[in-house]
Amino acid sequence: MSNIEPSAAPVQLRNVVRQFGQQRVIDGLDLDIAPGEFVALLGASGSGKTTLLRSLAGLDSIDSGQLRVPKARAAVFQEPRLMPWKRAWKNVILGLRIPDAKARAVQALTEVGLAHRLEAYPATLSGGEAQRVALARGLVREPKLLLLDEPFAALDALTRIKMHRLIIELWRKHTPAVLLVTHDVDEAILLADRVIVLANGKIAEQLSIDLPRSRDTGQEGFQAIRARLLSLLGVEVDAPAPVAQTAAASVRRFAHA
Ligand SMILES: Nc1ncnc2c1ncn2[C@@H]1O[C@H](COP(=O)(O)OP(=O)(O)OP(=O)(O)O)[C@@H](O)[C@H]1O
Ligand SMILES: [Mg+2]
Repeated sequence: MSNIEPSAAPVQLRNVVRQFGQQRVIDGLDLDIAPGEFVALLGASGSGKTTLLRSLAGLDSIDSGQLRVPKARAAVFQEPRLMPWKRAWKNVILGLRIPDAKARAVQALTEVGLAHRLEAYPATLSGGEAQRVALARGLVREPKLLLLDEPFAALDALTRIKMHRLIIELWRKHTPAVLLVTHDVDEAILLADRVIVLANGKIAEQLSIDLPRSRDTGQEGFQAIRARLLSLLGVEVDAPAPVAQTAAASVRRFAHA
């Protein structure tokens, strides 16, 4: 039973099940997301993160349970999924019937710092620029729920840091609820109000991140949260690494992502 209700209410999932053949990928999952809350979703590869996001985006159904999401929602994936034969601004409003469509596209592209690339074709954009077009395409829909599936994973370290800043700026301005799937524990702690861990088809653990913003990995309390999350993901760390070493490690990991 799939029950996607058009609603301005917060995200509310009850006993959601999604299975492929005999494999129960989502297995009785409960989840609430408050309006304007930024939630990061961690979990091993194959744990069902994308499956969950696709159901929330309305791109896939569920087999049983209840799923309430706002009607105004948008999703951005790891790859920007732009139409190669359409200019940037046309990609932003693709499939959308709104008055003043071009003006709205221009506004959204300006917000993501691409006012100068309105007429560009996707093949002429860098990876970071293409992802910002995808973000603008989400924003122009004025979502109450923004779904992000590893949107920064394919970007280089510096572009990724800029994207973190941009996403927080846009989140503060437009105040959607956000569900961000990421493999990167640091990214989750830097961005989210709450981090949830998906395992065995359910929310296995969750942590509120009360660190003041704007955040950085050297901030007091950051490394303790990091060690706790890594341990929940099955990676034990003996002692928090020195700040300089951690930053270098993150950059190396980003560079090879
Ligand atoms: N359409 C489908 N048909 C059959 N099996 C599927 C389908 N979609 C996903 N699966 C299976 O469901 C499981 C969860 O996949 P999913 O893509 O949700 O994982 P994920 O947590 O997003 O992983 P990753 O971190 O690698 O992106 C996998 O075993 C996958 O093979
Ligand atoms: Mg995935």
